[in-house]
Amino acid sequence: MSGIGPARAGDVDQILILQRAAYRIEAERYDDFELPPLTESRADLLAALRTHTVLVARRARAGDTTPAHHIVGTVRARVADETAHIARLSVLPSLHGQGIGRRLLDVIERVTAPVRRYELCTGHRSERNLRMYERAGYRRVRVEPQSDRVSLVYLEKVVDASVGPHRARHELTGSASRFPHAADGRQ
Ligand SMILES: CC(C)(COP(=O)(O)OP(=O)(O)OC[C@H]1O[C@@H](n2cnc3c(N)ncnc32)[C@H](O)[C@@H]1OP(=O)(O)O)[C@@H](O)C(=O)NCCC(=O)NCCS
Repeated sequence: MSGIGPARAGDVDQILILQRAAYRIEAERYDDFELPPLTESRADLLAALRTHTVLVARRARAGDTTPAHHIVGTVRARVADETAHIARLSVLPSLHGQGIGRRLLDVIERVTAPVRRYELCTGHRSERNLRMYERAGYRRVRVEPQSDRVSLVYLEKVVDASVGPHRARHELTGSASRFPHAADGRQ
């Protein structure tokens, strides 16, 4: 992978294509093709760029000698009441199992720090996601029905406040000023 950095307005089309490809797996699992990540519009995502920290993982196109990269993963988070709400973790299906999702999760945690806790959710039958989050230090806190097909399992990770975000800053490509916490000095 070439790097993880902030999403730009020009990335929205690629992000939506990637997100729809990734969440199709979840849609098939639950036979529910109206999951919010699948129905999100361009306008919704542009709005999210203003309210959320949105990260993308970029990779150079195979055999490409130009600096063009394509987006292979994304995740976003919004901080409220000392909690980072992490969502829409998505990786291009052909690249699953290569560590991109785990790295995106690690970086979004670090760029939203310092917070008291992280929260995210996944479908009740998404065993691999649940395992991945539990191995990343999350524990299940509640289950909320979303529809007659899907219940959402919420997981949280309470943070040791002494752990800083510094390591992640080194991993980021792109302007730190796009990160709300970098901009308002809460580092
Ligand atoms: C969830 C998702 C983002 C994970 O991305 P990924 O790049 O494939 O994940 P990684 O390669 O970083 O692997 C993460 C963990 O899953 C494990 N894993 C990877 N491939 C696996 C596979 N085929 N089967 C079982 N476990 C697997 C890894 O061992 C890793 O565990 P670890 O962190 O304890 O080492 C990706 O599968 C995806 O886009 N899914 C569809 C959308 C979705 O469900 N998003 C999450 C909603 S909450």
